[in-house]
Amino acid sequence: MSITMSTPHPGRFDKGLADTIAAESAMSYIDGANGVLEYVGLEIDTLARNSTFEEVVYLLWHQKLPTRSQLDGFEEDIRAEHDLPQAIWDMMSSLPASAVPMHALRTLVSALSLYDPEADDQSPASNQRKATRLLAKTPVLIANFDRHRNGKDFVKPDPSLGIATGFLTMLNGKKPTKTMAQALDVCLILHADHGFNASTFAALVTISTLSDIYSAVTTAIGTLKGPLHGGANQAVMRMLDEIGDVSKVEAYITDKLRRKEKVMGFGHRVYKAYDPRAAYLKTFAGQLAHDTGNQTLYEKSEAIDKLMHERVASKGIHPNVDFYSATTYYSIGLAVDLFTPIFVMSRIAGWVGHCIEYLTSNKLMRPRCEYVGPHNQQYMPIEKR
Ligand code: ACO
Repeated sequence: MSITMSTPHPGRFDKGLADTIAAESAMSYIDGANGVLEYVGLEIDTLARNSTFEEVVYLLWHQKLPTRSQLDGFEEDIRAEHDLPQAIWDMMSSLPASAVPMHALRTLVSALSLYDPEADDQSPASNQRKATRLLAKTPVLIANFDRHRNGKDFVKPDPSLGIATGFLTMLNGKKPTKTMAQALDVCLILHADHGFNASTFAALVTISTLSDIYSAVTTAIGTLKGPLHGGANQAVMRMLDEIGDVSKVEAYITDKLRRKEKVMGFGHRVYKAYDPRAAYLKTFAGQLAHDTGNQTLYEKSEAIDKLMHERVASKGIHPNVDFYSATTYYSIGLAVDLFTPIFVMSRIAGWVGHCIEYLTSNKLMRPRCEYVGPHNQQYMPIEKR
């Protein structure tokens, strides 16, 4: 029987979902034309200057800044959840030292669900507890996987420390300076949420099937890893390394643009003005690089920024958050392949916040595709093909 095909639905094809609004959210607001980012109505710059990461997570999850006692209570909840099940420590010890940290992290976060008896409890209270658990345990996984691959003993989390200080203490086996802990804390604030970016959207697709928070976060980690998204901060560092001396910037960038290759850490789907996170990090990275003897790295970044401005700013291409975060992380002394895991440590706040928010009025995420293949084909037996 032959089928006459008609357009089965009136949907509009929107490549890359660039103009699709998939849900409502009260967490973060982006004005891409004017370079504005707000978390619950508070400018990112103000939060980076005055808040801590923990306070910002509370803001995103509760849509209001905490009082002193609310913040103390929240920090206590996080600290009570830092430690890992023994089976996870054992599993971490058995991972190959050669594993890419993002692969290791995705695997370990997924494995946490195996030891959480309420993994599949979809009640809001349980999801909130799991959100706190994931926020608290992720830094422990990242720092200790790094220790494992470098042949060092694990350092258990110290429940008296905040997230940024605690992470650097586990990673390096000693307490960081106040400046380093603050630098990381600022980066965590700046990366905590950003509307329906690819990884948040991926998490929402998963949670919208009424799967579970661990599955949603595992999906999101896999999505963040790509160099067009969170993996760009590592790609920026590799580029800075590849360029070598600052005198080579012009030739390198000119060649990239001539070949129509992407310059990592530039461009954004939403921002057509300077990304406010990059603006904040630019000044911040400059100071930190100066204090840590990494001026040449910063000068190289600035030279790229200046040249890209001359060449492509008119097309709305400016540095994004990943560009100056590379210099910042390097100045903190972090291994390049930990840059994206640190992004996870922060963005987990946004992922789980959006999942919990979306579940209050859930609808299965299920777009359609435009079929462009043939119809009415004749089936050919295999021996005749
Ligand atoms: N370097 C050079 N040219 C660029 C760049 C860049 N980084 N980004 C975009 N362009 C150009 C494209 O070549 C294209 O030019 P054309 O119109 O002449 O063909 C135009 O700008 C539009 O680019 P698209 O890739 O179609 O824009 P899209 O909105 O899909 O891309 C993206 C956004 C993926 C972030 C892109 O800018 C990019 O690949 N940047 C580099 C990777 C990166 O830094 N990613 C991190 C983003 S922030 C984050 O996820 C945390």
